[in-house]
Parts: sequence; structure tokens; C-alpha cells
Amino acid sequence: MKPIKVGLLGIGTVGSGVFEVLRRNQEEIKRRAGRGIELVMVSRRDLAKAREIVGDHAQVVADPRDIIRNPEIDIVVELIGGYTLARELVLEAIAAGKHVVTANKALLAVHGTEIFAAARDRGVMVAFEAAVAGGIPIIKALREGLTANQIQWVAGIINGTTNFILSEMRDKGLDFEVVLKEAQRLGYAEADPTFDIEGVDAAHKATLMSALAFGIPVQFDRAHVEGITKLQAADIRYAEQLGYRIKLLGIARRQAAGIELRVHPTLVPSKRLIANVEGAMNAVMVQGDAVGTTLYYGKGAGSEPTASAVIADLVDITRLHTADPEQRVPHLAFQPDELHATPI
Ligand code: NDP
Ligand code: HSE
Repeated sequence: MKPIKVGLLGIGTVGSGVFEVLRRNQEEIKRRAGRGIELVMVSRRDLAKAREIVGDHAQVVADPRDIIRNPEIDIVVELIGGYTLARELVLEAIAAGKHVVTANKALLAVHGTEIFAAARDRGVMVAFEAAVAGGIPIIKALREGLTANQIQWVAGIINGTTNFILSEMRDKGLDFEVVLKEAQRLGYAEADPTFDIEGVDAAHKATLMSALAFGIPVQFDRAHVEGITKLQAADIRYAEQLGYRIKLLGIARRQAAGIELRVHPTLVPSKRLIANVEGAMNAVMVQGDAVGTTLYYGKGAGSEPTASAVIADLVDITRLHTADPEQRVPHLAFQPDELHATPI
């Protein structure tokens, strides 16, 4: 079967990770998807930089619409970020009958209702595993693994940049600004890092999780949002002395009056698991009536962890896109002539 063709809108931190992981693990990915996934076009305004990343493995264009207009492209991956251009491009891709994968939580938290409706009308998929908690498959867990449950609450550390800042300030006594710059250098922070430090990014993610967990529309404008900019080094020290750690938590909870949605710095007893989630790691806890409390932990930001989630969506769509019903079911991807379990 011929490979499915993918075009990337934006090849920066996450896009370069997608390119690298797709290349490195192409055989495994092909086995799991049932056919090859080929990255054929990428767009970036800085063409030289894009060519530096992809060499001659993909066509490089400056105008992302060249990808959307290309009839050969089956899936468009939006990794530009922001609300305005990304919204236009995603809606245009949907109108052109392309499936869309995006890591853009800001876009979906604000324009999700419009985008999901357009996708439903056109019969295409919009997948967004990478939009919440980076490499942690929390969207799949909420949508599939916990589907039998009435979810009572979802809470966790869902912004890597702020968790990294709080950890480094506490452990190394570093200044806020110094650690923020380091988070930017490491590719954790948003293009506009005020989204991270003011709690907006975490609220975008909490909004998306609340929509999945409780079946409500995406309602970012209803979230209470408070970031970490008013915290001082002394607050972190005093909390520590009293046996607590300060964590920026995103919380969505079912209440009698509706769904409570909030992001704010929280004192967490130091012995709790969530208090010991450090650096850019994320952790999400979900409480369901049948399953009880479950915990999901992993890298919440960065190039390859996020690429892992983007590619998981590409594999899902590839399976569903195929005409062969057998192929639509995830298989154990056996490698008949390679690795075998060895008795010890
Ligand atoms: P970057 O800023 O590293 O990459 C964005 C890319 O888009 C750049 O290559 C930029 O290149 C390109 N771009 C911007 N404007 C245009 C345009 N008009 N036309 C074509 N290309 C354009 O961002 P990230 O990779 O970090 O993030 C991408 C998305 O993923 C965002 O939505 C972000 O929120 C999300 N995300 C990021 C994570 C992370 O850890 N970094 C984790 C999870 C999600 P140029 O300027 O040369 O055009
Ligand atoms: N800026 C985000 C963070 C990227 O720090 O968590 C991952 O969504």
C-alpha cells in the first residue's frame, strides 16, 4: 500500500522532532500504522533553516497554503502556533478534505467548537494528543481508556515551563528570569512565554481536558487563571520549611453547580507524588467513579516528547484512513524475524 502523505505547517521545535522521530523509527511506525507515513512537504518562512533540518528529504515551501492546496497531501500537521493564522490554515485544510493534527492548545481552547464542527461536517479528523501534557497520552486516556467512567475530577501539572522554573528556583536558588530564559532555550516555552508564566497555557490545556472529561463545550473564557509571576523566592522557601511545595495546578472538577475550571499556584504537601514532579515533567491525575484515581506522568514539553504525541495521532489517522477494515484495529506489531523474548 502506498504511504500516506503528510505536510508540516511550521518546522520549529516540535516540527523538527516530528521529522527526526519519523525518520529514525520509520520501520516501527510503518508496521504499527499498517503503511508508511511519508513527510513530503514542510513550510517555514526561513527557508534556509527548514532546509537545514530536512535536507532533501522533503520539499520546503515558505507559504503553508502550498501544502494545503497540494492534492497529494492526506494529513496536514499544524505546528505554527497562535490563534489567527493557525485558525485560518486549519479551517482551510479541513475544507480541502485533509485530516489535521495539531499541537496547538491555544487554537483549540479558543476556536475548538468552530474547528471540530467544521471537521465533523467535512468528515475529516482533527487530532490533538500533543496539545495537552506533551508526550503523555492523556487525550487517549480520557477519550478511550477511561471511557466507561463518570469523571469526577482531572488535576495536575500541565505546564512544563512553570514547573521547571519553580523546581530550579527552589533547588538551585536561581532567579525567575534566568530560569525562564533557560526554558526558552530548551524549547519548553511558548513563543509568547507570558502564556506559560501567567497560567494561560495551563488553562488552555485544562479547558481541553474538561471538554473531554465532562462532555462540555470548550470554554476557555470560563476558566479562573492565575500564574506564577507574583510568587517570590521567599514564598517557595517558606512553603518548603512548612512541608509544602508550590505547584501550578490545572484543575477541572465536577460540582453540583457545573464544572469548576481553574489554574493557580497551589501548596502541595511535600510527600505527595505530585509535589515531587520536577523540571519540565508533567503529571495528570484523573478520578473516575469506576476506576478510582489514575496517574499519568512524563515529559510535558520539548521537541521529541511532543513529536511522540503528534506521530501517535498520525498513526491513528493512518489506520482509520485505510480502506481495509482489518487495518483499522491496532495490532501487536510483530517483527517475525527480529527480536524474540529470550529465556533467562
Ligand atoms: P516554534 O516557534 O519552535 O516553531 C514554529 C514554527 O512555525 C517555526 O518553524 C516558524 O518558522 C514557523 N512559522 C511561524 N509563522 C509561520 C508562517 N506564517 N508560515 C510558515 N511557517 C511559520 O514553536 P514550537 O515548535 O515550540 O510549537 C509549535 C506548536 O506546538 C505551538 O502551538 C505550541 O504551543 C505547541 N506545543 C509546543 C510544545 C513545545 O514543547 N515546544 C509542546 C506542546 C505543544 P519561521 O519563523 O521561520 O516561519
Ligand atoms: N509551553 C508548554 C509548556 C509547552 O511549557 O508546557 C508544552 O505544551
